[in-house]
Amino acid sequence: MKQWRMWFGIVPLAGMILSSPIVSAKEPIPPAKQAYLRYCSACHGESGKGDGVVSHLMNPRPADLTQLAKKNKGEFPFMRVIRIIDGRETMRAHGDPDMPVWGEIFAPEVPGAMHKEANIRGKVLLITEYLASIQEQ
Ligand code: HEC
Repeated sequence: MKQWRMWFGIVPLAGMILSSPIVSAKEPIPPAKQAYLRYCSACHGESGKGDGVVSHLMNPRPADLTQLAKKNKGEFPFMRVIRIIDGRETMRAHGDPDMPVWGEIFAPEVPGAMHKEANIRGKVLLITEYLASIQEQ
């Protein structure tokens, strides 16, 4: 294989990666926070306080996610939060239709049943850990 051909592909790619906002930002955003911002912040707000850009259009309003521990006698309700985010177990027959069922939304993104389930659980866990880290005392 001609060497120059290889460099022809790698050099622009490296340039693109290095100039992307995530790499060049002084403090890169941790993956858990990235996931939160991408999937949750439109409703729950960047800070988690329930003040996302579409929150004023909603009734009921999106919950303040920094108060989950406070509302549970100071202890972050880890398993409950996982189940609420995933949403597939508590199917919405009697639940509320405003909070998306993330377990279903994350599902089509990865092909292959086992990888798919692992990916869904991974995302839900990542976001739950992020929420645990933003609790107000
Ligand atoms: C389309 C808007 C919307 C998005 C996007 C959204 N939520 Fe929600 N969420 C809501 C609403 C509305 C409620 C409140 C439902 C209620 O009070 O009955 C809620 C409630 C919750 C609750 C329950 C809080 C409590 O006190 O019981 C948790 C936890 C939660 N959301 C986490 C998340 C996470 C994590 C994400 C991102 C993966 C997310 N939400 C994305 C609208 C949204």
